[in-house]
Amino acid sequence: MKTQNKTIVLVGFMGVGKTTIGKKVAKALDLTFNDSDKLVEEKVGLTVKEIFDVHGEIYFRGLEEAMILSCLSEDQPQVLAVGGGAFINDRIREVCIEKGDAIFLKISWEEWKKRADDLRPTRPLLQKNSEDEIHTLFEVRQQLYSQAPTTIVTDNLTIEEIVEAIQQR
Ligand code: S3P
Repeated sequence: MKTQNKTIVLVGFMGVGKTTIGKKVAKALDLTFNDSDKLVEEKVGLTVKEIFDVHGEIYFRGLEEAMILSCLSEDQPQVLAVGGGAFINDRIREVCIEKGDAIFLKISWEEWKKRADDLRPTRPLLQKNSEDEIHTLFEVRQQLYSQAPTTIVTDNLTIEEIVEAIQQR
């Protein structure tokens, strides 16, 4: 197995499995795991949904950027799952790609739609947008996520197979 010198950054749309997969990859490689949503939640003491409700999305995005840049400034490599909107931010995207080992976990719209109902309660953007708007968001973001040097198509793969694919690159 190659030595992991850079932080593995998992990107992709909400609900693709970044956190679940990231925890397993971190365990397999004996690295620390971080999740940008969780770091923001711990900092504020509210859930992501509550932060959107109380402080608004712009406030959330500012903290999201601070948490991600802070993780990538650490010397020790880790596994970092970033929120599905993080790559909209040019600075976050550039730093994740330059300093990190960014991996796009790509799910098809058809597969993703099967998960939408389970995700809605905790994802504010799924609550305030129509299905058409979410589909547009999904499509627009694919080009941003695709800038990550590695893409793994997750449709038809089990969690364990995705974890394996990340380690085998
Ligand atoms: C968001 C994705 C969420 C969370 C927030 C906004 C987005 O993270 O950061 O609800 O803009 O796509 P996950 O991708 O972990 O669900």
